[in-house]
Amino acid sequence: MDLNAALAYAAGDFEKTLEDLKALIRIPSISFAGFDPAPPRQAAAACLGLLAQAGLQAQERAHPGAPPYILGFSKRRPDRPTVLFYAHYDVQPPMRAERWKSPAFAPEVRDGRLYGRGSADDKAGVMLAVAAAGAWLKSGQELPVNLIVVLDGEEEIGSPHFADFLRANQADLAADVLVVADLDHYETGIPSLTTSLRGILVAEVELRSLDKPLHSGMWGGAIPDPIAALCRVIASLTDERGRLSVPGIYEGVIPPSEAELQGLKSLHHDVAVFRKNATVRPGVALLEEGDRVLLRTWREPSLVVNAIESGSRKQGGNVLMDAAWARLGVRVAPGQDPARVRDLLVEAIKARVPWGLEVSIACDHVAPPWKTDTAHPAFAAMKRAMRDAYGREALEVGSGATIPFVPDTVRALGGIPALLIPVEDPSTNAHGENESLHLGDFRKALQAQVRFFAELASSHVRV
Ligand code: BES
Ligand code: MN
Ligand code: MN
Repeated sequence: MDLNAALAYAAGDFEKTLEDLKALIRIPSISFAGFDPAPPRQAAAACLGLLAQAGLQAQERAHPGAPPYILGFSKRRPDRPTVLFYAHYDVQPPMRAERWKSPAFAPEVRDGRLYGRGSADDKAGVMLAVAAAGAWLKSGQELPVNLIVVLDGEEEIGSPHFADFLRANQADLAADVLVVADLDHYETGIPSLTTSLRGILVAEVELRSLDKPLHSGMWGGAIPDPIAALCRVIASLTDERGRLSVPGIYEGVIPPSEAELQGLKSLHHDVAVFRKNATVRPGVALLEEGDRVLLRTWREPSLVVNAIESGSRKQGGNVLMDAAWARLGVRVAPGQDPARVRDLLVEAIKARVPWGLEVSIACDHVAPPWKTDTAHPAFAAMKRAMRDAYGREALEVGSGATIPFVPDTVRALGGIPALLIPVEDPSTNAHGENESLHLGDFRKALQAQVRFFAELASSHVRV
């Protein structure tokens, strides 16, 4: 096993890796309903080609209702640990085209970052698998582990078919360790291992008081305004500190242990940097202070109004609208049951609708939270790989985001350790406009991944 040859191959081939990543970014593989299903299929085909080029045995597996899953297998040897490596090739829609400095699907490098939709989330994750496997196989050696790559085409809509797909293909996907390349660096240049995720549920609420919009001068006053009604309902769901105000909705939240609080402290989290990264305007107060900012984000539920629609900014005259709609996203903390949170939320909304307006509520995207300890030696192997690649110790962090398939997959594969590794960073702006990948960190993430295969093999981690 010649680690240095593999590392050198990855470094020498880095420009090609970037070119391949750019080619992937050019394919607008948006998985959302209502978008053209051809680009996701095209991206799947491109991924298949990349895995094959890396020297893996690449397969496309169709699954009813889902874009194709792309798999890549290395040669299997029974004495080696098996790694299941996950990334997703689907992306979010670009949002407002005019806000992109370079077009979303025309990759461009500026100031050491690669801009484009999916540059980080998660086509960089796809390329980590391709380039790390290729580094070993194309430097004339076998991979030190049995590698199974699985590329998902519908993570951004909650991976609705992944659990079924896994069940149907369990024998081929069984592994000792799961690696998920879809998380973020705590700060640029800092290797980070994510040990908790929040779950999510999304509720779309519509309140209606009329059959049609009316002249607000002729009718306004005695008739309930649906927008005002919706605002009242939404405002009632949180208190003055942004905490959810629905009885019972904090049920199950696992409070941080003494050791976790210590761990949090050792991050020396800087609230000023947090504000700056998030672009919080100077006069705007945060709803937490100190380390509570991270606890609130990683370990407690939150409600965000993702969108609200009624009336029109361009064409709206003096009207009294007939109906108002909002999409509410609730992040669910480790320990909580998202279905229970959903039921409490729906009940509360219904009970709080004023003036007898008609209400309809549709819920989707119910994904569970996840949390792990890091006792399994695979975590130590990853941390050593990261330390040697980044030149500093890896941090254990939480994430407020959701990766829907993680809890299910870990369970289905017998509780194997899951290593959630970073491609993004606080400047990535995933899901927003001008998404970008820090190329310095991507290079290090690739070196870490090449090293990880060697570390895992030499520590003989097996279940
Ligand atoms: N890669 C993200 C999750 C993420 C983002 C982790 C930033 C760490 C930092 C993933 O693709 C994602 O966006 N997940 C969705 C899941 C949802 C669609 C069910 C999320 O969290 O909104
Ligand atoms: Mn992602
Ligand atoms: Mn995403």
